[in-house]
Amino acid sequence: MTFSIGTRWGRSELGIGIRHRDLVAGPEPESAHHELSQARRVIRRHRRHNRQQRSGRAWRPIQHQKAGTPISSVSIIGLGNMASALAGRALAGGNAVEIIGRDPAKAKEVAAALGGATVGTAGIAPAGDIVVLAVPYASAAAVVGEYGDALHGKVIIDITNPVSPDFKGLVTPDGSSAAQEIAKAAPAGSHVVKAFNTLYSNVLAAGPADGRRLDVFIAGDDAQAKRRVSAFIESLGLRPMDTGQLPMARTLENAGLLMLGLVAHSVKHTNFSLGVSILS
Ligand SMILES: NC(=O)c1ccc[n+]([C@@H]2O[C@H](COP(=O)([O-])OP(=O)(O)OC[C@H]3O[C@@H](n4cnc5c(N)ncnc54)[C@H](OP(=O)(O)O)[C@@H]3O)[C@@H](O)[C@H]2O)c1
Repeated sequence: MTFSIGTRWGRSELGIGIRHRDLVAGPEPESAHHELSQARRVIRRHRRHNRQQRSGRAWRPIQHQKAGTPISSVSIIGLGNMASALAGRALAGGNAVEIIGRDPAKAKEVAAALGGATVGTAGIAPAGDIVVLAVPYASAAAVVGEYGDALHGKVIIDITNPVSPDFKGLVTPDGSSAAQEIAKAAPAGSHVVKAFNTLYSNVLAAGPADGRRLDVFIAGDDAQAKRRVSAFIESLGLRPMDTGQLPMARTLENAGLLMLGLVAHSVKHTNFSLGVSILS
């Protein structure tokens, strides 16, 4: 397995080799079997995908729902680039989408421009089972605190990149991550999953590149929550790649830094994505 950078015009290897057994190494012995099955499931799916590519069959979204029933109901907090990109892809993928912003008039405008999204009220229980925090890291924990118990039972997706103003480091405490800090602020009964932080909004908005699904790395402690996030990701025409439990979010946030370094020093634009090429 090789960590790679895909551009819309081709692929160039980054050269960080990940052995299969590295994926399953972890401190909790009881989770090793689960991690192994997860890794095997991902590899099987990728092989199936490769076979489909070779046979010329284009990838199609997996339809989990009965006709007319949304795949997921999603509330997106934030009205910026990532919120619009995610909402647009989510609507196209057959999900129910609610837009929530601190400025109600702007939220209505954004929802109207998207077409098909409803508008929620800030601070009130979001309608979606999945709640995406599409706000800067600096605001994320406060936003979660503002909703408090209204987030009970929700799967909270943290997409933030907690990057320092000079783009050289992370602002989160050593040994922690944005997702873990957000989880501390989240109510009991909610589950935080890290996802989407390694996809630029322009790439997300554009969807599958040349019929190939782009990878969305996820991390989280709750298997059911990760399954729900994975189904949502599939509905967007993207490939979920489970990286392990929530502390892996720090690694994903470092990957956000990696992307900034690539923009500054080699790729020179944001029309690329990080992905995994499974070679055998
Ligand atoms: N842009 C990317 O390509 C990209 C890629 C991966 C991850 N991310 C992450 O995604 C998140 C959003 O990025 P973005 O590019 O979409 O940012 P953005 O365009 O600046 O939008 C941020 C949104 O957050 C809202 N917001 C800020 N503080 C808030 C608060 N306290 N309560 C409610 N809403 C608040 C803003 O509201 P107003 O509209 O009222 O100002 C704005 O709508 C960030 O954490 C970023 O690190 C971004």
